[in-house]
Amino acid sequence: MAQKPWGGRFSEATDKLVEEFTQSVHFDKRLAPYDIRASIAHARMLAKQKIISAEEAEKIIAGLEEIAREIEEGRFHWRPELEDVHMNIEAALYEKIGPVAGKLHTARSRNDQVATDVRLFLRDVVDEGVRRLRELRQSLVNKARENLEVILPGFTHLQHAQPVLLAHHLMAYYEMFRRDTLRLVAVRREINVCPLGSAALAGTPFPIDREMVARELGFEALSRNSMDAVSDRDFIISFLAAAATCLAHLSRLAEEIILWMSPEFGFIDLPDKLCTGSSIMPQKKNPDVAELIRGKSGRVFGNLLALLTVVKGLPLTYNRDLQEDKEPLFDTCDTLLPALRLATLLVEGLVPRKENMRAACEEGHLTATDLADYLVIKGLPFREAHHLVGQIVAFCEEKGLRLWEVPLEEFQKFTPLIEEDVYEWLTLEGSVKRRKVFGGTAPERVSEAIRAAEEELAKEAGA
Ligand code: ARG
Repeated sequence: MAQKPWGGRFSEATDKLVEEFTQSVHFDKRLAPYDIRASIAHARMLAKQKIISAEEAEKIIAGLEEIAREIEEGRFHWRPELEDVHMNIEAALYEKIGPVAGKLHTARSRNDQVATDVRLFLRDVVDEGVRRLRELRQSLVNKARENLEVILPGFTHLQHAQPVLLAHHLMAYYEMFRRDTLRLVAVRREINVCPLGSAALAGTPFPIDREMVARELGFEALSRNSMDAVSDRDFIISFLAAAATCLAHLSRLAEEIILWMSPEFGFIDLPDKLCTGSSIMPQKKNPDVAELIRGKSGRVFGNLLALLTVVKGLPLTYNRDLQEDKEPLFDTCDTLLPALRLATLLVEGLVPRKENMRAACEEGHLTATDLADYLVIKGLPFREAHHLVGQIVAFCEEKGLRLWEVPLEEFQKFTPLIEEDVYEWLTLEGSVKRRKVFGGTAPERVSEAIRAAEEELAKEAGA
Protein backbone atom coordinates (compact mmCIF):
# COMPACT_ATOMS: atom_id res chain seq x y z
CA MET A 1 0.00 0.00 0.00
CA ALA A 2 1.32 3.40 -0.98
CA GLN A 3 1.77 5.67 2.02
CA LYS A 4 -0.78 8.44 1.73
CA PRO A 5 0.30 11.91 2.83
CA TRP A 6 -2.84 12.07 4.95
CA GLY A 7 -2.54 8.51 6.30
CA GLY A 8 -1.79 9.39 9.94
CA ARG A 9 -5.22 8.99 11.46
CA PHE A 10 -6.20 5.95 9.41
CA SER A 11 -5.85 2.37 10.61
CA GLU A 12 -6.84 0.46 7.49
CA ALA A 13 -6.15 0.73 3.79
CA THR A 14 -8.54 2.67 1.59
CA ASP A 15 -11.12 0.54 -0.16
CA LYS A 16 -10.09 -0.01 -3.79
CA LEU A 17 -13.40 1.32 -5.08
CA VAL A 18 -13.00 4.45 -2.99
CA GLU A 19 -9.52 4.97 -4.36
CA GLU A 20 -10.77 4.63 -7.90
CA PHE A 21 -13.76 6.86 -7.31
CA THR A 22 -11.93 9.68 -5.61
CA GLN A 23 -8.73 9.84 -7.62
CA SER A 24 -8.32 12.63 -10.13
CA VAL A 25 -4.76 12.11 -11.23
CA HIS A 26 -5.66 10.86 -14.71
CA PHE A 27 -6.95 14.31 -15.55
CA ASP A 28 -5.35 16.71 -13.08
CA LYS A 29 -1.83 15.58 -13.90
CA ARG A 30 -1.86 18.19 -16.62
CA LEU A 31 -1.66 20.77 -13.83
CA ALA A 32 1.77 19.43 -12.85
CA PRO A 33 3.94 22.19 -14.38
CA TYR A 34 1.83 24.81 -12.60
CA ASP A 35 1.81 22.86 -9.35
CA ILE A 36 5.58 22.71 -9.39
CA ARG A 37 5.98 26.36 -10.29
CA ALA A 38 3.72 27.37 -7.42
CA SER A 39 5.55 25.03 -5.02
CA ILE A 40 8.90 26.51 -5.96
CA ALA A 41 7.61 30.03 -5.32
CA HIS A 42 6.17 28.86 -2.00
CA ALA A 43 9.46 27.19 -0.95
CA ARG A 44 11.47 30.31 -1.80
CA MET A 45 9.12 32.42 0.26
CA LEU A 46 9.26 30.01 3.22
CA ALA A 47 13.05 30.31 3.18
CA LYS A 48 13.03 34.07 2.88
CA GLN A 49 10.67 34.25 5.84
CA LYS A 50 12.95 31.83 7.73
CA ILE A 51 10.12 29.36 8.15
CA ILE A 52 12.44 26.78 6.58
CA SER A 53 16.18 27.09 6.08
CA ALA A 54 17.82 28.16 2.83
CA GLU A 55 19.42 24.71 2.41
CA GLU A 56 16.06 23.02 2.90
CA ALA A 57 14.51 25.26 0.27
CA GLU A 58 17.35 24.50 -2.14
CA LYS A 59 16.88 20.77 -1.71
CA ILE A 60 13.14 21.06 -2.21
CA ILE A 61 13.50 23.21 -5.32
CA ALA A 62 16.15 20.97 -6.88
CA GLY A 63 13.92 17.95 -6.23
CA LEU A 64 10.90 19.67 -7.74
CA GLU A 65 12.88 20.66 -10.82
CA GLU A 66 13.98 17.09 -11.30
CA ILE A 67 10.39 15.90 -11.02
CA ALA A 68 9.33 18.52 -13.55
CA ARG A 69 11.90 17.12 -16.00
CA GLU A 70 10.75 13.55 -15.41
CA ILE A 71 7.15 14.53 -16.06
CA GLU A 72 8.03 16.48 -19.18
CA GLU A 73 10.00 13.57 -20.57
CA GLY A 74 7.26 11.08 -19.71
CA ARG A 75 9.42 9.24 -17.17
CA PHE A 76 7.28 10.03 -14.16
CA HIS A 77 5.31 7.19 -12.66
CA TRP A 78 1.81 8.44 -11.82
CA ARG A 79 0.08 6.54 -9.05
CA PRO A 80 -3.72 6.75 -8.91
CA GLU A 81 -3.71 5.51 -5.31
CA LEU A 82 -2.05 8.83 -4.43
CA GLU A 83 -5.27 10.55 -5.47
CA ASP A 84 -4.19 13.63 -7.32
CA VAL A 85 -1.37 15.54 -8.94
CA HIS A 86 -0.46 17.32 -5.71
CA MET A 87 0.08 14.19 -3.65
CA ASN A 88 1.85 12.39 -6.48
CA ILE A 89 4.40 15.16 -6.67
CA GLU A 90 4.70 15.42 -2.92
CA ALA A 91 5.30 11.67 -2.59
CA ALA A 92 7.86 11.72 -5.40
CA LEU A 93 9.67 14.58 -3.71
CA TYR A 94 9.80 12.57 -0.50
CA GLU A 95 11.37 9.65 -2.35
CA LYS A 96 13.98 11.97 -3.82
CA ILE A 97 15.01 14.13 -0.90
CA GLY A 98 13.64 12.41 2.19
CA PRO A 99 11.77 13.92 5.15
CA VAL A 100 12.70 17.50 4.31
CA ALA A 101 10.12 17.19 1.51
CA GLY A 102 7.53 17.29 4.26
CA LYS A 103 8.40 20.92 5.00
CA LEU A 104 7.11 22.16 1.66
CA HIS A 105 3.53 21.84 2.77
CA THR A 106 4.05 24.22 5.70
CA ALA A 107 1.50 27.06 5.67
CA ARG A 108 -0.25 25.54 2.70
CA SER A 109 -3.14 23.19 1.98
CA ARG A 110 -4.20 21.37 -1.14
CA ASN A 111 -7.21 23.66 -1.05
CA ASP A 112 -5.31 26.86 -1.79
CA GLN A 113 -2.80 24.87 -3.84
CA VAL A 114 -5.32 23.51 -6.33
CA ALA A 115 -7.02 26.90 -6.65
CA THR A 116 -3.61 28.41 -7.46
CA ASP A 117 -2.72 25.72 -9.99
CA VAL A 118 -5.98 26.04 -11.88
CA ARG A 119 -5.65 29.81 -12.04
CA LEU A 120 -2.13 29.54 -13.48
CA PHE A 121 -3.26 26.92 -15.99
CA LEU A 122 -6.29 28.89 -17.10
CA ARG A 123 -4.35 32.12 -17.44
CA ASP A 124 -2.19 30.43 -20.07
CA VAL A 125 -5.21 29.02 -21.87
CA VAL A 126 -6.85 32.43 -21.95
CA ASP A 127 -3.71 34.04 -23.36
CA GLU A 128 -3.58 31.39 -26.06
CA GLY A 129 -7.31 31.88 -26.73
CA VAL A 130 -6.81 35.61 -27.20
CA ARG A 131 -3.93 34.92 -29.62
CA ARG A 132 -6.01 32.47 -31.64
CA LEU A 133 -8.99 34.82 -31.68
CA ARG A 134 -6.67 37.46 -33.08
CA GLU A 135 -5.60 35.10 -35.88
CA LEU A 136 -9.21 34.32 -36.66
CA ARG A 137 -10.13 38.00 -36.73
CA GLN A 138 -7.17 38.67 -39.01
CA SER A 139 -8.33 35.94 -41.41
CA LEU A 140 -11.79 37.53 -41.58
CA VAL A 141 -10.32 40.96 -42.26
CA ASN A 142 -8.06 39.55 -44.98
CA LYS A 143 -10.92 37.72 -46.66
CA ALA A 144 -13.07 40.84 -46.45
CA ARG A 145 -10.35 42.98 -48.00
CA GLU A 146 -9.81 40.53 -50.86
CA ASN A 147 -13.52 40.56 -51.70
CA LEU A 148 -14.51 44.15 -51.25
CA GLU A 149 -16.56 44.29 -54.45
CA VAL A 150 -18.49 41.05 -54.00
CA ILE A 151 -22.24 41.40 -53.38
CA LEU A 152 -24.50 38.65 -52.08
CA PRO A 153 -28.03 38.53 -50.75
CA GLY A 154 -28.31 39.48 -47.11
CA PHE A 155 -30.86 37.32 -45.32
CA THR A 156 -33.42 37.73 -42.59
CA HIS A 157 -35.51 34.69 -41.65
CA LEU A 158 -33.21 32.90 -44.12
CA GLN A 159 -35.14 34.71 -46.87
CA HIS A 160 -33.53 37.10 -49.33
CA ALA A 161 -33.68 40.55 -47.77
CA GLN A 162 -31.29 43.18 -49.12
CA PRO A 163 -28.01 43.10 -51.02
CA VAL A 164 -24.90 43.38 -48.86
CA LEU A 165 -21.18 43.20 -49.38
CA LEU A 166 -19.60 39.83 -48.61
CA ALA A 167 -16.99 41.88 -46.78
CA HIS A 168 -19.70 43.36 -44.55
CA HIS A 169 -21.00 39.89 -43.81
CA LEU A 170 -17.52 38.66 -42.87
CA MET A 171 -16.87 41.71 -40.75
CA ALA A 172 -20.01 40.93 -38.75
CA TYR A 173 -18.12 37.88 -37.48
CA TYR A 174 -15.11 40.04 -36.80
CA GLU A 175 -17.29 42.02 -34.38
CA MET A 176 -18.44 38.86 -32.60
CA PHE A 177 -14.91 37.59 -32.17
CA ARG A 178 -13.75 40.98 -31.00
CA ARG A 179 -16.33 40.88 -28.22
CA ASP A 180 -15.22 37.34 -27.39
CA THR A 181 -11.68 38.67 -27.08
CA LEU A 182 -12.77 41.43 -24.72
CA ARG A 183 -14.62 38.86 -22.62
CA LEU A 184 -11.52 36.69 -22.33
CA VAL A 185 -9.41 39.69 -21.40
CA ALA A 186 -11.91 40.53 -18.65
CA VAL A 187 -11.89 36.93 -17.41
CA ARG A 188 -8.11 37.03 -17.28
CA ARG A 189 -8.29 39.78 -14.67
CA GLU A 190 -10.67 37.66 -12.63
CA ILE A 191 -8.38 34.65 -12.90
CA ASN A 192 -5.23 36.52 -12.01
CA VAL A 193 -5.73 36.65 -8.25
CA CYS A 194 -3.52 34.66 -5.91
CA PRO A 195 -5.29 32.42 -3.39
CA LEU A 196 -2.09 30.95 -1.96
CA GLY A 197 -1.78 31.68 1.75
CA SER A 198 -5.43 30.93 2.43
CA ALA A 199 -4.29 27.43 3.45
CA ALA A 200 -7.16 25.06 4.21
CA LEU A 201 -9.77 27.77 4.77
CA ALA A 202 -8.81 30.08 7.61
CA GLY A 203 -5.36 31.33 6.69
CA THR A 204 -2.14 30.36 8.45
CA PRO A 205 -0.36 31.35 11.66
CA PHE A 206 3.04 31.34 9.91
CA PRO A 207 4.50 34.72 8.96
CA ILE A 208 4.31 34.12 5.22
CA ASP A 209 4.77 36.77 2.54
CA ARG A 210 1.81 36.43 0.24
CA GLU A 211 2.85 39.38 -1.94
CA MET A 212 6.16 37.76 -2.72
CA VAL A 213 4.54 34.54 -3.93
CA ALA A 214 1.95 36.45 -5.93
CA ARG A 215 4.62 38.58 -7.57
CA GLU A 216 6.73 35.58 -8.45
CA LEU A 217 3.77 33.83 -10.06
CA GLY A 218 2.66 36.93 -11.95
CA PHE A 219 -0.61 37.41 -10.06
CA GLU A 220 -1.98 40.95 -10.00
CA ALA A 221 -3.81 40.76 -6.69
CA LEU A 222 -4.26 38.72 -3.53
CA SER A 223 -7.51 37.03 -2.65
CA ARG A 224 -9.03 38.97 0.23
CA ASN A 225 -10.90 36.29 2.13
CA SER A 226 -9.39 32.88 2.78
CA MET A 227 -12.75 31.12 2.99
CA ASP A 228 -13.86 32.56 -0.32
CA ALA A 229 -10.48 31.90 -1.89
CA VAL A 230 -10.54 28.12 -1.40
CA SER A 231 -14.12 27.70 -2.57
CA ASP A 232 -14.33 30.29 -5.33
CA ARG A 233 -14.74 28.84 -8.81
CA ASP A 234 -16.34 31.95 -10.33
CA PHE A 235 -13.32 32.53 -12.51
CA ILE A 236 -13.85 29.13 -14.11
CA ILE A 237 -17.55 29.79 -14.56
CA SER A 238 -16.77 33.13 -16.19
CA PHE A 239 -14.34 31.43 -18.51
CA LEU A 240 -16.80 28.64 -19.35
CA ALA A 241 -19.44 31.27 -20.10
CA ALA A 242 -17.09 33.30 -22.29
CA ALA A 243 -15.99 30.14 -24.08
CA ALA A 244 -19.61 29.08 -24.57
CA THR A 245 -20.46 32.42 -26.16
CA CYS A 246 -17.42 32.13 -28.40
CA LEU A 247 -18.42 28.60 -29.42
CA ALA A 248 -21.92 29.89 -30.19
CA HIS A 249 -20.33 32.38 -32.57
CA LEU A 250 -18.06 29.74 -34.07
CA SER A 251 -21.08 27.50 -34.51
CA ARG A 252 -22.99 30.21 -36.37
CA LEU A 253 -20.02 30.76 -38.67
CA ALA A 254 -19.77 27.01 -39.17
CA GLU A 255 -23.47 26.82 -40.00
CA GLU A 256 -23.10 29.48 -42.68
CA ILE A 257 -20.10 27.72 -44.16
CA ILE A 258 -22.10 24.48 -44.29
CA LEU A 259 -25.11 26.17 -45.89
CA TRP A 260 -23.01 28.15 -48.32
CA MET A 261 -21.18 25.06 -49.47
CA SER A 262 -24.37 23.16 -50.28
CA PRO A 263 -25.25 23.20 -54.00
CA GLU A 264 -28.52 24.99 -53.20
CA PHE A 265 -26.49 28.00 -52.14
CA GLY A 266 -23.22 27.31 -53.94
CA PHE A 267 -21.72 30.48 -52.43
CA ILE A 268 -18.35 29.02 -51.50
CA ASP A 269 -15.99 26.17 -52.03
CA LEU A 270 -13.56 24.77 -49.48
CA PRO A 271 -10.12 23.27 -50.16
CA ASP A 272 -9.99 19.47 -50.15
CA LYS A 273 -7.60 19.46 -47.23
CA LEU A 274 -10.33 20.88 -44.99
CA CYS A 275 -13.02 18.43 -46.05
CA THR A 276 -13.69 14.73 -45.67
CA GLY A 277 -15.39 12.13 -47.80
CA SER A 278 -18.09 9.50 -47.48
CA SER A 279 -17.39 5.82 -47.08
CA ILE A 280 -20.19 4.89 -49.47
CA MET A 281 -20.87 7.85 -51.78
CA PRO A 282 -17.75 8.44 -53.86
CA GLN A 283 -18.82 11.87 -55.05
CA LYS A 284 -19.09 13.41 -51.58
CA LYS A 285 -16.99 16.25 -50.21
CA ASN A 286 -18.30 17.15 -46.80
CA PRO A 287 -17.67 20.15 -44.54
CA ASP A 288 -17.19 17.93 -41.47
CA VAL A 289 -14.87 20.35 -39.72
CA ALA A 290 -17.54 23.02 -39.70
CA GLU A 291 -20.15 20.46 -38.65
CA LEU A 292 -18.00 19.34 -35.73
CA ILE A 293 -17.40 22.90 -34.58
CA ARG A 294 -21.17 23.30 -34.60
CA GLY A 295 -21.63 19.94 -32.90
CA LYS A 296 -19.00 20.34 -30.21
CA SER A 297 -20.48 23.65 -29.11
CA GLY A 298 -23.22 21.66 -27.36
CA ARG A 299 -20.76 20.03 -25.00
CA VAL A 300 -19.16 23.38 -24.24
CA PHE A 301 -22.54 24.84 -23.27
CA GLY A 302 -23.11 21.76 -21.10
CA ASN A 303 -19.81 22.27 -19.31
CA LEU A 304 -20.93 25.69 -18.11
CA LEU A 305 -24.16 24.26 -16.75
CA ALA A 306 -22.29 21.34 -15.18
CA LEU A 307 -20.07 23.58 -13.08
CA LEU A 308 -22.89 25.95 -12.11
CA THR A 309 -24.73 22.90 -10.87
CA VAL A 310 -21.70 21.64 -8.94
CA VAL A 311 -21.26 24.89 -7.01
CA LYS A 312 -24.84 25.91 -6.43
CA GLY A 313 -25.50 23.84 -3.33
CA LEU A 314 -22.10 23.97 -1.69
CA PRO A 315 -21.71 25.34 1.81
CA LEU A 316 -18.45 27.15 2.51
CA THR A 317 -15.68 26.32 2.12
CA TYR A 318 -13.85 23.65 0.13
CA ASN A 319 -15.91 20.56 -0.66
CA ARG A 320 -14.63 17.64 -2.65
CA ASP A 321 -17.35 18.33 -5.21
CA LEU A 322 -15.08 21.08 -6.42
CA GLN A 323 -12.75 18.49 -7.92
CA GLU A 324 -15.49 18.19 -10.55
CA ASP A 325 -14.52 21.62 -11.88
CA LYS A 326 -11.63 20.23 -13.85
CA GLU A 327 -13.09 17.87 -16.41
CA PRO A 328 -15.59 20.42 -17.77
CA LEU A 329 -12.87 23.05 -17.72
CA PHE A 330 -10.30 20.93 -19.54
CA ASP A 331 -12.88 19.74 -22.04
CA THR A 332 -13.87 23.31 -22.86
CA CYS A 333 -10.23 24.36 -23.25
CA ASP A 334 -9.54 21.35 -25.47
CA THR A 335 -12.51 22.23 -27.65
CA LEU A 336 -12.18 26.00 -27.80
CA LEU A 337 -8.51 26.24 -28.76
CA PRO A 338 -8.55 23.81 -31.73
CA ALA A 339 -11.95 25.13 -32.86
CA LEU A 340 -10.48 28.63 -33.10
CA ARG A 341 -7.56 27.42 -35.17
CA LEU A 342 -9.77 25.38 -37.48
CA ALA A 343 -12.20 28.23 -37.95
CA THR A 344 -9.23 30.34 -39.03
CA LEU A 345 -8.25 27.68 -41.59
CA LEU A 346 -11.83 27.54 -42.88
CA VAL A 347 -12.02 31.31 -43.31
CA GLU A 348 -8.58 31.46 -44.92
CA GLY A 349 -9.45 28.57 -47.23
CA LEU A 350 -12.96 29.45 -48.29
CA VAL A 351 -13.27 30.50 -51.92
CA PRO A 352 -16.23 32.76 -52.67
CA ARG A 353 -18.12 31.76 -55.83
CA LYS A 354 -18.87 35.28 -56.87
CA GLU A 355 -21.01 34.41 -59.92
CA ASN A 356 -23.34 32.30 -57.80
CA MET A 357 -23.65 35.02 -55.18
CA ARG A 358 -24.43 37.47 -57.95
CA ALA A 359 -26.96 35.12 -59.52
CA ALA A 360 -28.66 34.64 -56.16
CA CYS A 361 -29.11 38.39 -55.96
CA GLU A 362 -31.33 38.22 -59.02
CA GLU A 363 -33.95 36.41 -57.01
CA GLY A 364 -36.11 37.73 -54.21
CA HIS A 365 -36.53 41.38 -55.21
CA LEU A 366 -33.62 42.45 -53.06
CA THR A 367 -34.00 46.12 -53.94
CA ALA A 368 -37.69 46.41 -53.04
CA THR A 369 -36.79 48.48 -49.96
CA ASP A 370 -34.80 50.77 -52.24
CA LEU A 371 -37.88 51.32 -54.36
CA ALA A 372 -39.86 52.22 -51.24
CA ASP A 373 -37.08 54.58 -50.14
CA TYR A 374 -37.16 56.15 -53.63
CA LEU A 375 -40.88 56.84 -53.27
CA VAL A 376 -40.31 58.33 -49.83
CA ILE A 377 -37.83 60.74 -51.33
CA LYS A 378 -40.50 61.60 -53.94
CA GLY A 379 -42.80 62.56 -51.06
CA LEU A 380 -44.77 59.42 -50.16
CA PRO A 381 -44.99 58.43 -46.46
CA PHE A 382 -42.95 55.24 -45.90
CA ARG A 383 -45.94 53.07 -44.96
CA GLU A 384 -47.78 53.99 -48.16
CA ALA A 385 -44.64 53.42 -50.18
CA HIS A 386 -44.21 50.03 -48.52
CA HIS A 387 -47.76 49.04 -49.46
CA LEU A 388 -47.39 50.19 -53.03
CA VAL A 389 -44.08 48.38 -53.53
CA GLY A 390 -45.72 45.27 -52.09
CA GLN A 391 -48.27 45.47 -54.91
CA ILE A 392 -45.50 46.01 -57.47
CA VAL A 393 -43.67 42.95 -56.15
CA ALA A 394 -46.87 40.90 -56.43
CA PHE A 395 -47.17 42.13 -60.03
CA CYS A 396 -43.58 41.05 -60.70
CA GLU A 397 -44.20 37.61 -59.25
CA GLU A 398 -47.24 37.18 -61.46
CA LYS A 399 -45.41 38.30 -64.61
CA GLY A 400 -42.14 36.58 -63.78
CA LEU A 401 -40.27 39.88 -63.81
CA ARG A 402 -37.48 41.25 -61.69
CA LEU A 403 -38.06 44.69 -60.25
CA TRP A 404 -35.57 46.35 -62.57
CA GLU A 405 -37.19 44.66 -65.59
CA VAL A 406 -40.55 46.38 -65.09
CA PRO A 407 -41.08 48.88 -67.92
CA LEU A 408 -41.54 52.49 -66.88
CA GLU A 409 -45.11 52.65 -68.18
CA GLU A 410 -46.03 49.68 -65.96
CA PHE A 411 -44.45 51.39 -62.96
CA GLN A 412 -46.37 54.54 -63.73
CA LYS A 413 -49.68 52.66 -63.64
CA PHE A 414 -48.95 52.18 -59.93
CA THR A 415 -47.86 55.77 -59.35
CA PRO A 416 -46.75 58.67 -61.50
CA LEU A 417 -44.09 59.37 -58.85
CA ILE A 418 -41.87 56.76 -60.47
CA GLU A 419 -39.69 58.21 -63.19
CA GLU A 420 -36.78 57.18 -65.38
CA ASP A 421 -34.27 57.74 -62.55
CA VAL A 422 -35.80 54.82 -60.61
CA TYR A 423 -33.64 52.21 -62.37
CA GLU A 424 -30.49 53.48 -60.73
CA TRP A 425 -32.19 52.79 -57.40
CA LEU A 426 -32.90 49.23 -58.34
CA THR A 427 -29.36 48.10 -59.05
CA LEU A 428 -27.46 46.07 -56.50
CA GLU A 429 -24.48 48.41 -56.58
CA GLY A 430 -26.69 51.46 -56.10
CA SER A 431 -28.49 49.82 -53.21
CA VAL A 432 -25.30 48.94 -51.41
CA LYS A 433 -23.64 52.28 -52.10
CA ARG A 434 -26.51 54.28 -50.64
CA ARG A 435 -26.30 52.55 -47.25
CA LYS A 436 -23.71 54.98 -46.06
CA VAL A 437 -24.85 55.18 -42.47
CA PHE A 438 -22.12 54.42 -39.92
CA GLY A 439 -22.12 50.64 -39.57
CA GLY A 440 -23.86 50.19 -42.95
CA THR A 441 -22.85 48.08 -45.95
CA ALA A 442 -21.71 50.92 -48.26
CA PRO A 443 -18.26 50.08 -49.68
CA GLU A 444 -16.71 53.20 -48.18
CA ARG A 445 -18.05 52.33 -44.70
CA VAL A 446 -16.91 48.72 -44.99
CA SER A 447 -13.46 49.84 -46.15
CA GLU A 448 -13.25 52.06 -43.09
CA ALA A 449 -14.33 49.20 -40.84
CA ILE A 450 -11.67 46.98 -42.36
CA ARG A 451 -9.02 49.63 -41.89
CA ALA A 452 -10.06 50.22 -38.28
CA ALA A 453 -9.95 46.48 -37.62
CA GLU A 454 -6.49 46.21 -39.14
CA GLU A 455 -5.25 48.98 -36.89
CA GLU A 456 -6.89 47.40 -33.88
CA LEU A 457 -5.26 44.02 -34.64
CA ALA A 458 -1.85 45.58 -35.20
CA LYS A 459 -2.13 47.39 -31.88
CA GLU A 460 -3.20 44.25 -30.02
CA ALA A 461 -0.39 42.22 -31.57
CA GLY A 462 2.10 44.84 -30.43
CA ALA A 463 0.66 45.11 -26.92
N1 ARG B 1 -7.87 16.97 -6.02
C1 ARG B 1 -8.50 17.98 -5.23
C2 ARG B 1 -9.33 18.87 -6.12
O1 ARG B 1 -9.16 18.85 -7.28
C3 ARG B 1 -7.47 18.79 -4.55
C4 ARG B 1 -7.93 19.40 -3.28
C5 ARG B 1 -8.24 18.33 -2.33
N2 ARG B 1 -8.45 18.82 -1.02
C6 ARG B 1 -8.93 18.07 -0.03
N3 ARG B 1 -9.07 18.61 1.10
N4 ARG B 1 -9.27 16.83 -0.26
O2 ARG B 1 -10.18 19.63 -5.66
